Amino acid sequence: MTVAKDSFVAPKEHFSRASHVRSLEDYQRLYRQSLEAPEAFWGVQAQRLTWFHPPDSVREMNAEQVDFSWFGGGKLNVAYNCVDRHARERPGKTAILWAKNEPGEYQAITFRELQHHVGRMANVLKAHGVRKGDRVCVYLPMIPELAYTMLACARIGAVHSVVFAGFSAESLRERILDSGAKVLVTANEGPRGPKSVPTKAIADEAVEGLTQVTSVLVAQRTPREVPMVEGRDFWLNAEMARHRGVCPAEWMDAEDPLFILYTSGSTGKPKGVLHTTGGYLVYAATTHHYVFDVRPDDIHFCTADLGWVTGHSYLLYGPLANGTTTVLFESTPSYPDAGRLWKVVDDVKATVLYTAPTALRALIKEGDAWVKKSSRKSLRLLGSVGEPINPEVWRWYHDVVGEGRCPVVDTWWQTETGGILISPLPGATPCKPGSATLPFFGVEPVLMDDEGRVIEGNGVSGNLCLARSWPGQARTLYGHHQRFVETYYSRFPHLYFTGDGCRRDEDGYYWITGRVDDVLNVSGHRLGTAEVESALVAHEAVAEAAVVGFPHDIKGTGVCAFVTVKPDWLETSTEQMVGALKEQVRHVIGPIATPDRVVVVNGLPKTRSGKILRRMLRKIASGETESLGDTTTLADPAVLDELLEKSLPLR
Ligand code: PRX
Repeated sequence: MTVAKDSFVAPKEHFSRASHVRSLEDYQRLYRQSLEAPEAFWGVQAQRLTWFHPPDSVREMNAEQVDFSWFGGGKLNVAYNCVDRHARERPGKTAILWAKNEPGEYQAITFRELQHHVGRMANVLKAHGVRKGDRVCVYLPMIPELAYTMLACARIGAVHSVVFAGFSAESLRERILDSGAKVLVTANEGPRGPKSVPTKAIADEAVEGLTQVTSVLVAQRTPREVPMVEGRDFWLNAEMARHRGVCPAEWMDAEDPLFILYTSGSTGKPKGVLHTTGGYLVYAATTHHYVFDVRPDDIHFCTADLGWVTGHSYLLYGPLANGTTTVLFESTPSYPDAGRLWKVVDDVKATVLYTAPTALRALIKEGDAWVKKSSRKSLRLLGSVGEPINPEVWRWYHDVVGEGRCPVVDTWWQTETGGILISPLPGATPCKPGSATLPFFGVEPVLMDDEGRVIEGNGVSGNLCLARSWPGQARTLYGHHQRFVETYYSRFPHLYFTGDGCRRDEDGYYWITGRVDDVLNVSGHRLGTAEVESALVAHEAVAEAAVVGFPHDIKGTGVCAFVTVKPDWLETSTEQMVGALKEQVRHVIGPIATPDRVVVVNGLPKTRSGKILRRMLRKIASGETESLGDTTTLADPAVLDELLEKSLPLR
């Protein structure tokens, strides 16, 4: 498809006058330099950080073994870079602005205070036996202790593994086991909107009988009492009060691990994506600097939870490395009403808003009046992340939220990439609504066809790969390097395969078309179909399950499960079964994975060799029953009639 030139939205002149990169030509020149002389380019970017010992080299690669090293020999500490150096230069500046669950309740934490809290937290971890290289699992709501814990781990060289507090006990347990964490940090509960997540109760279930976990540290968010296990559970506030705020920062090698973050893949087991210290922080700081065009007085409001990579890179590490005030939002955009996000923007005077299309779509549905009754004068830049942004949603964001004044940056990246890879630069890149536009410095996208050939030129589509390493890329899957190699570097040898499909239009602009593997993007969260299927078949009633995605107005992609039940359960009413199976998935994975639809059928569509015809199920779930394709390969054609009949109400 050719996109007309007039669909460009030009950079705003007032913005370009002061931005770090001021024109498309400047971007192109810098981009060329970054590819021609990557060592020089990244060597300069590394100077954003304070190094205890400068790197000996910029990058070293062993393509055969899929081993990458950036800034080797360099010694640094992430907490020192994100906290101490700012605490010294501007101690009174707000580092974290905590917007609590209830409207109007805020708490500002200065860099000096942050340094004190992080130091005490680091001493608490040490007192509980955590040493350099040990893993700490963090299961916390969006409270300052979450940021303290992440930074405290970084300070002492421990590896944090933050698990989003919407995951179930079983998911949490699986992650604790895989990472070998010996300390778990949680809270008595986590208020979120009108509800509260019983984090401590979930954590108790997760660590039940696990001798590996020797301490559970419990932050007290509310007065609610929770049972404490003698000798294992400790109130965090009391522990912190026992320690002083001074804790020396560990000298970490650039390639020492910083964190593990679990994400879904095409197989049932979540992958422990591992990021290291120097390259990750250089990349987070550099992308944050250019993509959000950082100014000293910015109030950066990223709505993501710290349990996801967006929270890691653009709520915590990127902004704090650059000395930027960052907002930690405990609630949801719809609590107590659809005007909440805009109220927070006005209250904290946010200059940058970074959110997901799914949140915007939900807000659009509530009508423009909620937006219009807020001022939003403080905003100067809007960002989008997590899934393709529909052009009409982009327009709304730009015209209604930003009143045509604020550039919109649609940023494409992944948990594995550590930071943004394709995005406009706000003062420089003409935008096309719906396109993430052009690659960031040092990033070389390549489109590959299914036969493994490079697709050259413009006006083409293919599998999105990356041709060279960038500092922020994940180095391995924790404890499973072979799986890392197989997942990302085997489909197209020597290329990183993203799992996304992509179009490069006539102007060389990139349009992400969605996942090409068995991963669903539900409300901007990754979910493996295999993960949901294993949760379903773990239910005693289920014989077989096949999970597919379908277009969903708000979530982008909805989850549809087709299941067959075992003979003993055929008498159970469909309504009861559907309810039980939705509950099953909530219980095994967490509420984010709950299927929108469960269709109980007598048989799944299979080929004669027994392979489930997923493409057919996807079409049925999407209501595209007129284009089912070749149905003669079906082993039992009667299955299709039943499927069509039972899926009819879906359309
Ligand atoms: O399919 C792409 C989609 O989200 C996937 C990565 O998910 P995750 O690792 O959870 O990280 C989300 C936050 C970085 C990608 O493979 N995705 C992310 N951003 C965009 C996007 N799709 C289109 N446009 C985007 N801006």
